[in-house]
Amino acid sequence: MMRLFLSPPHMSGKELEYIQEAFESNYIAPVGPFLERFEKSVAKFVQAPAALALCSATAGLHLTLRLLGIGPGDKVAVSDFTFIASLSPILYQGATPILVGCDQSWQMDPMALEEALQKERPKAVILTHIYGQSADVATIKELCDHYGAQLIEDAAESLGATLNGKYTGTFGTFGVYSFNGNKLLTTGGGGILVGPKEPIERARFLATQAREPDVEWYEHKTYGYNYRLSNIAAAIGVAQMEVVQERIAKKRQIFEWYQEFLSDKAHFMPEIPRSFGNRWLTTALFNTDPLHILRELKNERIESRPLWKPMHMQPLCKDFSYYGQKEEEEFFAKGLCLPSGTAMEKEDVAMVCEVIGRCLG
Ligand SMILES: Cc1ncc(COP(=O)(O)O)c(C=O)c1O
Repeated sequence: MMRLFLSPPHMSGKELEYIQEAFESNYIAPVGPFLERFEKSVAKFVQAPAALALCSATAGLHLTLRLLGIGPGDKVAVSDFTFIASLSPILYQGATPILVGCDQSWQMDPMALEEALQKERPKAVILTHIYGQSADVATIKELCDHYGAQLIEDAAESLGATLNGKYTGTFGTFGVYSFNGNKLLTTGGGGILVGPKEPIERARFLATQAREPDVEWYEHKTYGYNYRLSNIAAAIGVAQMEVVQERIAKKRQIFEWYQEFLSDKAHFMPEIPRSFGNRWLTTALFNTDPLHILRELKNERIESRPLWKPMHMQPLCKDFSYYGQKEEEEFFAKGLCLPSGTAMEKEDVAMVCEVIGRCLG
């Protein structure tokens, strides 16, 4: 059993009370009052016009492509330095991913994106805000507008992160947040899609098997998906949203402790000017093989992870076009995600840093 996990669930204490309430109402189904409360709390927090609770952020990304009418023959530009779930919905739709590398911010490079927009004319761009930090989404939005591409923000990891005081996930046509087990907040698996009211209602329809409303029998003019979240999971989400600010503050505190202990030994992921990240995971580059550190930490029952392996290095993606300087190859070669659970105390961070210090000699 691990002593320290990477980013385990951290309950607020209210979850069981709300689950009990859900049980008493017998809404043990993908309908019920907690779903609306969860959607409203996220929409209010990020200042989005509307929100839809889903079984995952991946489902949310898939729905956005469906809503935008993206299908076979279409191209979609996507962050290269990300988790596969940013890209796989493009494949679900039979469209073609165009990979865009990152710059020294570790986020999508706007210059590389501009080249991809000029040469490939993608219909949409899926921008990931990685590790809880904001990408240069203001510049990327301008580029998307200029070249007539829709911007979809994969803010799965960056709930609460802002640029110029505006929440990540709300710059583009749509944004998604993940409530997977290791995220800033969790519903034990789930996602929220945000965007304008009408398309969000269309997404709700598609997420519930595209059953035509106001008909007594099951009438279908198109096909949909079973992508809704349960009322029980939403009850957990409502309780989690009550501590969102506290959790962000603690993640940032943990990052500061790592900085204090490792200032001369590691190069941490930057926060771009005028942005505020949630520091979901503290991530850093080291001048030694990160797998050596990972294994030493594992021996001490401490979980860490390599940084995302860039999409262009994945066998699945070997035939996709790539734009950029391949900066992310160096990040993958040198980087590690360090334990960042919000129940951690300074002594825990000190213990992790002590093991890392030993590895660095
Ligand atoms: C960048 C990124 N995009 C998408 C996802 C998918 O989220 P979910 O697990 O809720 O589908 C994740 C995390 O799992 C992620 O880290």
